[in-house]
Amino acid sequence: MYGLIIDHIATYIKEKYCESTWQEVKFVSGVTDDAFQMDKKYSEGLSHKLIWACHDVTGDQVDELMTNIGTSFYKFLTKYEFNKVLRVLGRTFPQFLNGLDNLHEYLRFTFPKLKPPSFYCEHESRTGLTLHYRSKRRGFLHYVQGQIRNIAQELFQTEVVIELLDIEHDMNLEHVIMRLHFNNLDFNRQNTAYRNLNDSILEKVKITSDIFFDIFPFIIVFNRGMRIRFGNDSEFIETEKNNTYT
Ligand code: HEM
Repeated sequence: MYGLIIDHIATYIKEKYCESTWQEVKFVSGVTDDAFQMDKKYSEGLSHKLIWACHDVTGDQVDELMTNIGTSFYKFLTKYEFNKVLRVLGRTFPQFLNGLDNLHEYLRFTFPKLKPPSFYCEHESRTGLTLHYRSKRRGFLHYVQGQIRNIAQELFQTEVVIELLDIEHDMNLEHVIMRLHFNNLDFNRQNTAYRNLNDSILEKVKITSDIFFDIFPFIIVFNRGMRIRFGNDSEFIETEKNNTYT
């Protein structure tokens, strides 16, 4: 795993507790490095080793630690100025979530061997959406929940309540389904804007059946009652040129 995430965990432990706690965590986990290079690969298990050692030293629950570390992710990113990238990922929170896969793909320039998580949104409504989180790693569920809640708050001033719907393990993939409850104000606005745009296009661009006769070699024309009015086969008799179909 890339040092960015390990550094994030180490930075959290140093800032939340103190330097001596960090030294103890290192000792318990058997880690010797004191600093982690953002773009260097470290062993896959290192993040969990540090978290469990932190649990042993401080007594704080692992899930709670993961949530808090995820919550501090956005602030941590300012260290590398990556927070600026997040600010332009989407105008709305759902757009932001939909952009996360592209973001991680783009990050391959910096992290060529990235094993990125994947996010997929569905069933968007006025009160939220369903988020699918897929990862080749395990144990990042609370981390990701902390990230999402905090980023929604920081970038979109939106409170999100996360309801866990399902966790599946398929081969070496963890698939988590969550319902994100939030005030999705833009949902109605977008729909109305889309409908208005559609109506105005239909209003301005009237298409006569002549255009279709010119473009296509074979054609069947239905009227509003779905009755065939014209076909360029001899069996269809009625020709209705200059009819307007919108
Ligand atoms: C510019 C911002 C971001 C950067 C630079 C970044 C970078 C990274 C990197 C380097 C990794 C390690 C992957 C590996 O070692 O193979 C990672 C993993 C991860 N990222 Fe991002 N990321 C960003 C934004 C986000 C956001 C906004 C989310 C979620 C809201 C997210 C969720 C995760 C999760 C959950 C993991 C680790 C667990 C897993 O693999 O599922 N990331 N990211």
